[in-house]
Amino acid sequence: MQKYTVTAALIYANGPIHIGHLAGCYIPADIYVRYLRSTGADVAFISGTDEHGVPITVKARLEGKTPQQVVDFYYEQIKKAFADLGISFDIYSRTSNPAHHQLSQEIFSTMYDKGFFDEETNEQYYDEVAQQFLADRYIVGECPSCGNPNAYGDQCERCGSTLSPTELKNPHSTLSGSKPVMKPTKNWYLPLDRMQPDIEKYVNSHKEWKTNVLGQCQSWLKDGLRPRAMTRDLDWGVKVPLPDTDGKVLYVWFDAPIGYITFTKEWADQNGKNWEDYWKNKDTKLVHFIGKDNIVFHCIIFPAMLMAEGSYILADNVPANEFMNLEGNKISTSKNWAVWLHEYLEEFPDKQDELRYVLSANAPETKDSEFTWKDYQTRVNSELVGVFGNFVNRVLVLTHKNFNGVVPAKDTLREIDTKVLEELSGFPKVIGGAISNYKFREALNLVMDLARLGNKYLADTEPWKESDPIRVGTIMNVAIQISASLAIVSEPFLPFTAAKIFEMLNLDPQTWESAGRVDMIVAGHKLNPAQLLFTKIEDSVVEKQVQRLLEIKKMNELEAKKREDEIKEVPELKASIQYDDFAKLDIRVGTILEAEKVAKSDKLLKFLIDDGIEKRTILSGIAKYFKPEEMIGKQVTFLANLAPRKMMGVESNGMILMAEDRDGSLALLQPHKAVWNGGPVS
Ligand code: 2FM
Ligand code: ZN
Repeated sequence: MQKYTVTAALIYANGPIHIGHLAGCYIPADIYVRYLRSTGADVAFISGTDEHGVPITVKARLEGKTPQQVVDFYYEQIKKAFADLGISFDIYSRTSNPAHHQLSQEIFSTMYDKGFFDEETNEQYYDEVAQQFLADRYIVGECPSCGNPNAYGDQCERCGSTLSPTELKNPHSTLSGSKPVMKPTKNWYLPLDRMQPDIEKYVNSHKEWKTNVLGQCQSWLKDGLRPRAMTRDLDWGVKVPLPDTDGKVLYVWFDAPIGYITFTKEWADQNGKNWEDYWKNKDTKLVHFIGKDNIVFHCIIFPAMLMAEGSYILADNVPANEFMNLEGNKISTSKNWAVWLHEYLEEFPDKQDELRYVLSANAPETKDSEFTWKDYQTRVNSELVGVFGNFVNRVLVLTHKNFNGVVPAKDTLREIDTKVLEELSGFPKVIGGAISNYKFREALNLVMDLARLGNKYLADTEPWKESDPIRVGTIMNVAIQISASLAIVSEPFLPFTAAKIFEMLNLDPQTWESAGRVDMIVAGHKLNPAQLLFTKIEDSVVEKQVQRLLEIKKMNELEAKKREDEIKEVPELKASIQYDDFAKLDIRVGTILEAEKVAKSDKLLKFLIDDGIEKRTILSGIAKYFKPEEMIGKQVTFLANLAPRKMMGVESNGMILMAEDRDGSLALLQPHKAVWNGGPVS
């Protein structure tokens, strides 16, 4: 029996799961695994949370919690959300387990003993305020590739470049905000440069990998691999198993993928299996499901580690997806721009398959894709309710109505019947083929084609108009066989729905091999009552979700503006002048008597000002900030001896003084108590 080790990325336990994670990694992985199981393959489906690294400690600082508290909370939340969505992991574990620390240290030590690491002391950024070296996400600065001013020390989230802290321009610490200094520290490096030929050979032996995956690998290889530190100066993580290394831990990307192995061991121990069958047997297929930001780690760095260690198999495939956007914008945890799985499940507790369907139909398999609530509604209403649910429902209802829920016998088959049965028998193979080739969208389309075929068959044969009960029996028998196959081939995508169909058909779940059979359900078999598979999504439901997102967008814009204001710097002082220079300015107080907009100008307001001597006209380009009627009666200060100037055909005699705020808005400069008009300002 073919063995498979299928892994799904160990998500950082620092935030909830969102639809981007699901569409990019977990749903495709689950489809693949459910299909394999249904073909009888021996599969270990492994995942869990990544509980180390700077992302965890940053979150802990932000929330005023310990890293352990953060990971304990999110581990439980994430595990439950996945289970509720029907993601069928064989084990969902965590990298903070002692067994994981032990195996990570063992693998590090084996590599160390083989002389694989280069020990290097070099200068790294250090935050003197926080008294800490600044690894990865503890440092931000300008991305050298795209200019993003908030790129992290390990990666730029805007352009996707992988970075090292020293490449950032204008770096500063995310701990204290201070400018870091360079300080020497010792770390252990994986010499990827020397391993490049072996890695190249490995990658090049997998021409069948997805184009987006191979593309990223080739670009790394073309640039030339560089040694990468496998240790960090941090205190949260797996301790470096070497003497005198207090305050140093393994790099999170060293220990995290080892989690796949640790968790397989844990699962094997609990289930009487031999874990080595899944990691050390050359015939076992290892497949990593990940999102595109993890490609280099799974296709280059982890394989390099395993090559160095020497006793493990390498990935057969890494079918990474691109990203899914939400309503026109990149999904962002920090901006709360996401559909969160745990929230979705609370709001739609019985609509797991609806989400699985929409995310699969729209998965970012070859390029970034987009989730919109409108599309969710359309797909559910017209595809799941209108096509899939409609077919199965009609079959069940008609059989109950005409035959009391007992499967009728097939009589003489007409051409239309044999044709549809023949078509039916071809489906499982092509659907299975597409799934095996990681073409899940195509496979799901084919599943829907089978439902469409069923609908067309009913529409063409019109059993509801047929007067001959024997003929009706034949039609319903054929339609029931299609429903049973539909349950099998849709199970990887829609497991809750498939279970309901099996229940209605009063049938135990069947293997993939049975799908397409024309006699899966025999005459005389008693069906269970019909139940609706899907219900329509009303406009109000979708509007509520869109409204929620609009509010988040508004809040984000306000916050972005606030941040922008905060970083706007006070202008530098002008060169100093003598008192005589100042004395040349004749600044006075006056009262606005009249105010009006200047015709044909968006900017100008015209004021008539009592300056104590006469009434003078002053024009001011402040219409954006002031309404004329609000200005009347106000005392203002103005520059009285500015040479007259004509604007829009009107002569202005002076300039009203204003203070400019951070956002560019203006405030009048007024005396704090009423003074006489014409009073000089000095
Ligand atoms: O991107 C992430 O969330 C990483 N924690 C994924 C790690 S996958 C594996 F290597 F463990
Ligand atoms: Zn960038």
